[in-house]
Amino acid sequence: MEKTLVIIKPDGVKRRLVGKILGRFENKNLTIVAMRYGMMTEEIAKIHYAHLSSRHFFKELVDYMISGPVVYLVLEGEEVIDIVRRMTGATKSHEALPGTIRGDYGLPGTQNVIHASDSKDTAVIEIARFFPENE
Ligand code: PPS
Repeated sequence: MEKTLVIIKPDGVKRRLVGKILGRFENKNLTIVAMRYGMMTEEIAKIHYAHLSSRHFFKELVDYMISGPVVYLVLEGEEVIDIVRRMTGATKSHEALPGTIRGDYGLPGTQNVIHASDSKDTAVIEIARFFPENE
């Protein structure tokens, strides 16, 4: 069965949205197969966003991701990667449609509530990055 990695970002945790976000995934009949709460280290944040290291917002993004605790989730289900990306909504919260997580809860700028793996290959790498014991 397909798996994907979701991170509830610092704004999602700080704003007490964890329960609402988990509820959306459960309502969609996706299975939470792993979950962990903690601080992302700067080293891991830089690796996670290494593909964006030349972008002007890289430092802001890394600083934001290590600014408070996050929740890491592995979700499982048929077509879960595509389903979760659709549930997440567009990167920029003001462009995300109502009914999506970012459309309903996202704030301007970096504070777009969650990260979700964007492909099968990325999901495998990201799950191993944040849940190395499952490798
Ligand atoms: S892009 O521009 O197409 O490469 O961006 P995208 O793939 O949609 O987004 C990749 C991650 O970068 C974050 N992002 C930003 N952060 C801060 N400022 C700006 N301007 C910005 N643009 C994109 C975006 O939230 C994505 O984070 P994740 O965690 O992968 O969703």
